[in-house]
Amino acid sequence: MAVNVKRPNGTEDILPKDVHKWHTVEKIARETAESFGFSEIRIPTFENTELFMRSVGETTDVVQKEMYTVTAKETKFTLRPEGTAGTIRAMLQNGLLNEALPQRVYYILSCFRHERPQAGRLREFHQFGLEMAGSQAPSADAEVISLAKSILDRLGLKNIELYINSIGCPTCRAKYHEALRSYFEARKDELCETCHERLEKNPMRILDCKSPVCQEITKDAPVILDYLCEECGDHFEKLKKYLTGLNIDFKVNPKIVRGLDYYTKTVFEFVTTEIGAQGTVCGGGRYDGLIEQLGGQKVPALGFAMGIERLLIVMDKQNSEFLTPRTCDVYFSTMGDNALEKAMQISHELREFGYRAEFDLMGRGIKAQMKYANKMGSVFTVVIGDNELENGSVRVKEMETGNEVEIALDDKFRANFESLYFNKMMNSLEDDELLNNLTNGENK
Ligand code: HAM
Repeated sequence: MAVNVKRPNGTEDILPKDVHKWHTVEKIARETAESFGFSEIRIPTFENTELFMRSVGETTDVVQKEMYTVTAKETKFTLRPEGTAGTIRAMLQNGLLNEALPQRVYYILSCFRHERPQAGRLREFHQFGLEMAGSQAPSADAEVISLAKSILDRLGLKNIELYINSIGCPTCRAKYHEALRSYFEARKDELCETCHERLEKNPMRILDCKSPVCQEITKDAPVILDYLCEECGDHFEKLKKYLTGLNIDFKVNPKIVRGLDYYTKTVFEFVTTEIGAQGTVCGGGRYDGLIEQLGGQKVPALGFAMGIERLLIVMDKQNSEFLTPRTCDVYFSTMGDNALEKAMQISHELREFGYRAEFDLMGRGIKAQMKYANKMGSVFTVVIGDNELENGSVRVKEMETGNEVEIALDDKFRANFESLYFNKMMNSLEDDELLNNLTNGENK
């Protein structure tokens, strides 16, 4: 019987031809977060199951249906379905919250959720996310939202809407839950089975239900914003004021309740209509009770996470620009073993100085080697054979123009190659500028 060695459903391979796209997102996200004072944190791929039950919440879909859990030596472990719980656990366990506040960390990690795979919804996916702990000020909410917006802008994403809402604190939410319960109680028979349970344990989850009938019923449900206490109301008003001052467009959407239980006050989502149902590219909010819930002090916190696969789907659709993939800087075509050895030595030195140098490892003939160098998009090529070794010099060919320059095969080879390379890069830059000016209507 054939062994099934295909990758599991809902997972993806990221191939070398596409990896520059990931590097683009990671680089821009990292640089932007660092410019806002965030540093990177790396946490384990799995945690004790209890962590997610206590943070993400036992009534959420993620905990009830989507976690990958194994029992090993009688302890239950779960592959992280998201990054917040593990990050806060790490902050607490390593005493970060005793240091200067606010603590600001970001992460790039894989997450695992057993959902039905479809475009933009995977079982293993990747998040860029961040958490800020220590500030209860609405300016922190504005800071985190404007950071997310800066990343999306710097990635060149267009047509993304920002929705914000406040889901209040436990005090105002208790009153809201009461109102929701009595509203849904009246139409209980029409609700789906899962929502019956939600009605008991956490009626706000009903607002998130995907069943069309439940969605229809929620249309006239009470709205949380009408139930906010004074403090939560002021917090939300200030946030809106700050966002307006930062020229960040937003829409207040009382339907945004988020699928995880730890949120309080501000919640937000950046949504695109370009990838169907899975249009939320970034989701986040405040979670002022979570740290205490996990055994820490009462420290307010907030954050967000972006789905990298979803960002890339939108970027591909919008023909966004990516970092140029690095090609081979110089390829040595060799004839004979002595030439090969020489190519090995020079390549080694060039690589030490950061150049990408390659030579033949396949025993190909010279013509096939040149074909390969062409295919690789090598910037320069060098042929080394007996003649070159005898003369002590080689011709370095710039592939784009066909220009050749003779360079001695001596101690100065690397330095001479470098100046050739530098000239080529300067010329390309000038060409780019000329092109830019032309397209901007100058130089006509
Ligand atoms: P989340 O909304 O569950 O929030 O996930 C954040 C983002 O991860 C989503 O907006 C989406 O882009 C992406 N995502 C979620 N599930 C999938 C999936 N199955 N396939 C592909 N992408 C997916 C959180 O995870 C919170 N921890 C965010 C946060 C951080 N809140 C505060 N701090």
